[in-house]
Amino acid sequence: MNCDPACPVLSAGASLAENRFDLPLGYLRRVAAVDPEVDETKRNLLKLAAVAGVLGVGVGGAVGGAIQYVQPGMVGLSSYPRVQLIDLDGKPLTVTNVEAEYNVGTTDLLIFYYPLRNEPNFLLNLYPVNGSPPSSTNPGAANVPGGVGTYGSIVAYSAICQHLGCPAPALAWYPPAAPVVGQPLANLYCPQTPGGRVFYLHCSCHGSTYDAANSAANLTGPAVLPLPQVVLETDPSGNIFAVGENGPPVNGHLNTLQGDYGIGTSSQLTKETPVILCNIA
Ligand code: FES
Repeated sequence: MNCDPACPVLSAGASLAENRFDLPLGYLRRVAAVDPEVDETKRNLLKLAAVAGVLGVGVGGAVGGAIQYVQPGMVGLSSYPRVQLIDLDGKPLTVTNVEAEYNVGTTDLLIFYYPLRNEPNFLLNLYPVNGSPPSSTNPGAANVPGGVGTYGSIVAYSAICQHLGCPAPALAWYPPAAPVVGQPLANLYCPQTPGGRVFYLHCSCHGSTYDAANSAANLTGPAVLPLPQVVLETDPSGNIFAVGENGPPVNGHLNTLQGDYGIGTSSQLTKETPVILCNIA
């Protein structure tokens, strides 16, 4: 992954980041040299395949087999699955639970993987802390694009930065603070962005920010693209499902559906502590 060497996630070796992005589509990875004693059979097979290819003799089948061995088949999905989200306690994630437990002031990062095992996403509820409608003195948002739940405030975005791929928790949610009476809304940790947004996702690697209330549109660079948005749905019981994704491909994937195995039929939230830095570009 092309994350900056200073990326706090990589330098700290945070568990969530480790091995998460192995084998993304189109990326090469240096591996240790093969022990000649252990792998002599495979080495000879490759030599044989190479010689056969050069000589052009009729052993196309053997060459094809060798190439297939060297380049594992691409893994991925042919379409977006319907995946049920599971809460931190192992129970189905419902609108009722989200609206009771999480809000615009939640500081922990709620992460789930979808549609592939190496594609993390944020789950956010942007509704105000006090449960009253958002206003100029009550920070939060309702009826946002793609939002589900009673107030259309529950959304999900890719947790991999669209610049050079720093993942959560380096890419993090920055909740708004309760405003000072008579003063403009403020962010709990950093100043508002040049776009005047007070709640945003911010990447501490190089300072990109994304508008959490507007399909994760890019607010500040160096990233230029929005974060992919997970399409959420609810059933009549209020259970929440991930059913698709809009926007650009997840960073590091030429196609969001290709580059690892699917997550399965359910995906459980995990909790992360954000990396907070005010280096908005
Ligand atoms: S990786 Fe550079 S701003 Fe996020």
